Amino acid sequence: MPHPHHTPPEAAPARPAGGLTARSGEPLLLRACRREPVERTPVWLMRQAGRYLPEYRAVRDAVGFMELCKTPRLAAEVMIATVQRLGVDAAIIFSDLLPLLEPMGLDLEFAQGEGPVIHNPVRAPADVDRVLELTDVDRLGFVMDVVRATRAGLDESIPVIGFAGAPFTLAGYCIEGGTSKAWLHTKSLMYRHESAWHDLMGKIARAVSRYLVAQIEAGAQVVQVFDSWVGCLSPHDYRRYVLDHSRAAIAAAAQRVPVIHFATGNPALLPLLREAGGSVIGIDWRIDLDRAWEMVGHDRAVQGNLDPAVLLADRDTVRRCTREVLQRAAGRPGHIFNLGHGILPQTPVENVLELVAAVKEG
Ligand code: CP3
Repeated sequence: MPHPHHTPPEAAPARPAGGLTARSGEPLLLRACRREPVERTPVWLMRQAGRYLPEYRAVRDAVGFMELCKTPRLAAEVMIATVQRLGVDAAIIFSDLLPLLEPMGLDLEFAQGEGPVIHNPVRAPADVDRVLELTDVDRLGFVMDVVRATRAGLDESIPVIGFAGAPFTLAGYCIEGGTSKAWLHTKSLMYRHESAWHDLMGKIARAVSRYLVAQIEAGAQVVQVFDSWVGCLSPHDYRRYVLDHSRAAIAAAAQRVPVIHFATGNPALLPLLREAGGSVIGIDWRIDLDRAWEMVGHDRAVQGNLDPAVLLADRDTVRRCTREVLQRAAGRPGHIFNLGHGILPQTPVENVLELVAAVKEG
């Protein structure tokens, strides 16, 4: 469907007259989450601290990934150094989606070069009964320590973002026992054993809700909920099997701070993500940002949506594609610049710096 670029009549000017505004003391990202006008578009990048950075690889030569996540001083340092090196406007805590599953009884390992493995996956309704209710988050105290250490080490202009997986994406890892392309074990359990599916999703949603509130109490000023793999579902099935659980996972956090609700792979889900909650909806690159924002509704903020693969190109292409995303946001208040998904490990650092510079120049 052709969709000519246009500046909607109700869009605010990109820059308020007179340079800095009266509220310029408040972090750009927080103002953008509330759709307030900002001097320039805030920018941060999913997986901004990762293997594309030589400094990160050097840390990882000495410590395993889970050990890094569980060493708050080091995890905080990795993110603080990254934020300072890149000049981005937010620090997401250095952690992962999956540690939440350990105190729920799942046996998690990050095997060298293989990504996450769960040795006791949930395959049958009886396995769902063995998944533990996460009544308190004590065993995840290291994550709250990462939040505190990251907050303590950064300037006040840089908000700290906490995060968790959304129920579908976490259920997918529990059921597959690792990452997957088609999520067929997950869908089998969902379609064949609907009541066990809802039990599992309910347990995960309550765990996520408690976990996000604990991160907020530790100092997270925004939280992002990653539904990285839910795009494999149709809108109809999202409504039947997922929506209420995502809403339950998000609701308590949303009463306290802005929530960024992110999914990939299926732009047809955007109105349903909005319905499930989030003051900011994360957009991947499979849809143009202006069209996505219309689907979400202009009464919500959006985050996105450069294709991470653009960062594998030359610097002129990085600049051109970055500007295109900004043009589609059209200066409307409530745009946070990000990629449509995480930075790829093979990305040259200078392209990331080029992107940040291009966003800052507007
Ligand atoms: O920089 C940041 O954005 C903060 C840290 C962060 C990580 N994982 C670090 C990480 C965040 C926000 C995540 C979330 C996460 N974890 C997601 C959602 C984002 C997305 O990409 O959709 C998902 C799906 C996971 C699960 C996960 N973690 C997988 C599938 C893998 C293996 C694949 C891979 O990219 O390595 C991980 C490992 C992981 N998480 C790494 C990092 C830096 C690499 C581990 C290493 O150092 O070897």
